[in-house]
Amino acid sequence: MPRISVKKTSLFILEWGAGKAEWSWYVYKGMQESGRFILIDRKSFKNKFDKYLKQAEFQRLKVDIRDLILENVSLAQGHPIINYSKHLCGRATDLTLTCLKEYQANGGFIEGIYIALCCHQLCCFEDYVNKPLVQQWGLTSSEFDQMCKLTSWAVNGKRSHMDEATFEKRREIGLKCKKLIDYGRMKFMKEELKMSHVDRVYYVASEVSLENVLLMGKNCNLCCNL
Ligand SMILES: C[S@@+](CC[C@H](N)C(=O)[O-])C[C@H]1O[C@@H](n2cnc3c(N)ncnc32)[C@H](O)[C@@H]1O
Repeated sequence: MPRISVKKTSLFILEWGAGKAEWSWYVYKGMQESGRFILIDRKSFKNKFDKYLKQAEFQRLKVDIRDLILENVSLAQGHPIINYSKHLCGRATDLTLTCLKEYQANGGFIEGIYIALCCHQLCCFEDYVNKPLVQQWGLTSSEFDQMCKLTSWAVNGKRSHMDEATFEKRREIGLKCKKLIDYGRMKFMKEELKMSHVDRVYYVASEVSLENVLLMGKNCNLCCNL
């Protein structure tokens, strides 16, 4: 994961699909207990870590990202924002990028995006952020949805009836499908969100987690060191 510099004391951070917000708690500690946080999740949690973030300026939004209008969130107004997530499942990443595009179109400034991805098999054409690219590939919406399902081959364990060659072939196909989906997202971040640097990095070994891809984009007046 990228290191967040402690030089800036008033970072505006949005955690998408925050869950219990444990990740933001560690970031808050890493920033020597500074920063402002907006935690977004559609589910209610016991908010275990919210109490530790009390001293930070923070807001928890219980909302589906699909319905979020970021321009209406007062804490974010007028500040460059950093966005991150630890394991944002499937289509939620596309919904986040779409939401950020709308925010930017209305004058918001996005400093960085760092999303640890998961569950590509839950992506779908309907919410995918780069439909024009899918059309350029010559895929129909249902073929794209099928491709999304194939990504589960990248993360499934070996079944008892499967020989090694079949297992490896399936895994290779699954990984390629994941890469294609993320390629479209990166292209969107570069071309639509105008991020100056976009990348897709493996942040831990696959022995630690098979969901080990970080999608990242940053703008040049950057506060995060990589
Ligand atoms: C895999 S969990 C990760 C939770 C937390 N980040 C963690 O690492 O423990 C994904 C989280 O994203 C939230 N989520 C998924 N889709 C969402 C959506 N469309 N809108 C808001 N939250 C969503 C889920 O409720 C869930 O809490």
